[in-house]
Amino acid sequence: MSADSGLAEAASVLRTGGLVAFPTETVYGLGANALDARAAARIFEAKARPSFDPLITHLADAADLEPLVGPVPAAVAALAARFWPGPLTLIVDRPAAIPPIVTSGLDTMAVRVPDNDHARRLIAAAGVPVAAPSANRFGQLSPTRAEHVVRGLGAAVDVVLDGGPTRCGIESTIVDARGERPVVLRLGALPVEELEKVTGPVTIRPGSSGQPVAPGTLAAHYAPRTPLRLLAVDEAVAAGSPPGAGVARGYLAFRDRPADGWAAVEVLSAAGDLTEAAARLFDALHRLDAAGVTEIVAEPVPETGVGRAVNDRLRRAAATWQPAG
Ligand code: TXA
Ligand code: MG
Repeated sequence: MSADSGLAEAASVLRTGGLVAFPTETVYGLGANALDARAAARIFEAKARPSFDPLITHLADAADLEPLVGPVPAAVAALAARFWPGPLTLIVDRPAAIPPIVTSGLDTMAVRVPDNDHARRLIAAAGVPVAAPSANRFGQLSPTRAEHVVRGLGAAVDVVLDGGPTRCGIESTIVDARGERPVVLRLGALPVEELEKVTGPVTIRPGSSGQPVAPGTLAAHYAPRTPLRLLAVDEAVAAGSPPGAGVARGYLAFRDRPADGWAAVEVLSAAGDLTEAAARLFDALHRLDAAGVTEIVAEPVPETGVGRAVNDRLRRAAATWQPAG
């Protein structure tokens, strides 16, 4: 339903333990009352999400943080003050009011204030913090349009609020700023360069090995159903070599259209703009995935700003790719 007319009903669905998919500035979230363990359990069920993968709690306003979690470290407060509402998720201690299922038993909680009016009005009207992962089935492409949610989750969701395509198109940056030097747990829509202007140098946790502290960092994640092969930087300069005869392949380009011969082509940003490329990434992958091709070949984008998060998602989407034969 439209995000304006459906808001009051959606808020009441949240309050009574239901699931509401809603737009944020990053991707669509699958929301439930974060104070209600049963409601949170429904999220894991709907997404087929492993119970070890904790949820992000969403607030309507930065001023709602300390009443929920108590005093936070100065560095955390400074980041919230600077970047909320916005695509930054912060790690804090889990308060007693939040049931352990939300954080998968961790004594920490991920929290953010989304920069989207529909989202903030929904959360404010519900009057509760809202636990929301991306509104897709676990491991699959993230949803940047209401149609993606409906296609991926369908009847498992009580209400889908349609707020149009999301502005950033890629998930929030997750930062643990409780220690001496902030640690980026997941690259995302807020570029590391912007963070460092406030915090000084940060550590970027390489995702795949060891404990899945942020399972958005699992090696294989954010993946289309079609096998995706990520080109090396120097391969991509040639804009992809034309595919072999008889095989329908799709091509994901950063700015330049490749030579003819591809069954389907998506160009992320003809202007070479990384913000636009990030905003269009998942939408383009959803389209290539629906194009009936046997393989998607993707170019990396420049490894700077939000481009780092785009490349991170492409590497994870490509993690299970194997040469044919
Ligand atoms: O942009 C976003 O962050 C979107 C929108 C809907 O807000 N949400 C999102 O949620 O991407 P999800 O569940 O797809 O990814 C949340 C990530 C997971 O990788 C999870 O492991 C990590 O956040 N996370 C949650 N709680 C954590 C915690 N206490 N410590 C470390 N990582 C945590
Ligand atoms: Mg996700």
